[in-house]
Amino acid sequence: MSPVRVPTMGQGGDEHDAADEAMAAHVGRRFAGKVAVVTGAGSGIGRATALRLAAEGGSVAALDVNAAGLEETVAAIAADGRGTAVGHVCDVTSEASVADVVAAVVEALGPPAVVCNVAGIGGFFHTAEMPLERWQAILAVNLTGPFLVCRATLPYLAEHGGAIVNVASNTALMGQAYSAAYCASKAGLLMFTKALAAEYLGKGVRANVVAPGGTDTPLFGHFGLPEGADPKQLTRIMTPMGFSTPAELAASIAFLASDESSYTTGAVLSVDGGLTI
Ligand SMILES: NC(=O)c1ccc[n+]([C@@H]2O[C@H](COP(=O)([O-])OP(=O)(O)OC[C@H]3O[C@@H](n4cnc5c(N)ncnc54)[C@H](O)[C@@H]3O)[C@@H](O)[C@H]2O)c1
Repeated sequence: MSPVRVPTMGQGGDEHDAADEAMAAHVGRRFAGKVAVVTGAGSGIGRATALRLAAEGGSVAALDVNAAGLEETVAAIAADGRGTAVGHVCDVTSEASVADVVAAVVEALGPPAVVCNVAGIGGFFHTAEMPLERWQAILAVNLTGPFLVCRATLPYLAEHGGAIVNVASNTALMGQAYSAAYCASKAGLLMFTKALAAEYLGKGVRANVVAPGGTDTPLFGHFGLPEGADPKQLTRIMTPMGFSTPAELAASIAFLASDESSYTTGAVLSVDGGLTI
């Protein structure tokens, strides 16, 4: 694997093909007989996670607001043939939407044993000019969403045993210019996860965080640098190893979601190509 890889905003490339091939060599059957809920499954890291859990035999409930993206994910899992997936359009910021979808998942697939909160949004803003509604929208998807999904699924996880993996970011661990809401939401998600881990310690539910660095997905294409912002301010968040592939993140998420990490809870796994060394 080359130490420096270029970002292609979700378009792949030779470096990515090599990394994904290396990942594919390690696929096992860790999720056979398990139901897994994955949010943000219509794109990027969430899609790769849904594909990985299904490839390892899982029954995946793929959740996203983006119906077209979900269709592609479910079709890819069907074509792969190693697991099953059902797509559910779900807005993780809506209490009713989450409750309805979790009830439908339990009805269709059975009680979940794995929950991966991957859905997320962001944006660059001068904090002094940031509209309140953008702040609230980022907090709603990145922090309240995982709370709602965990709240709705915890009774099942606690009854049968389970694992939660919440996808934060290197920005949960280091400040990033123009990203006050994003940093606050991801740091909040990190401590939300640790609080869950403490509360459910010894009760059969583990909760862990994966903190990605730059990952090659469409996400940053939507961030948009505000007028007058200094792009040099963002160099400190450039991942030393270059952008990872979504499958590389999915591999770490799958580890923490599986029984292979049975002694790990409340942990933060940085998958960021050396960014937070
Ligand atoms: N890509 C990176 O460099 C990077 C770095 C650090 C952290 N992350 C985090 O990884 C996670 C996945 O990001 P990605 O890069 O795959 O982005 P992405 O944009 O490719 O995928 C995010 C998905 O979340 C979905 N989503 C947005 N709002 C939603 C809502 N209200 N309800 C349900 N689904 C919703 C989107 O439709 C999209 O399919 C995010 O939490 C992101 O913050 C990404």
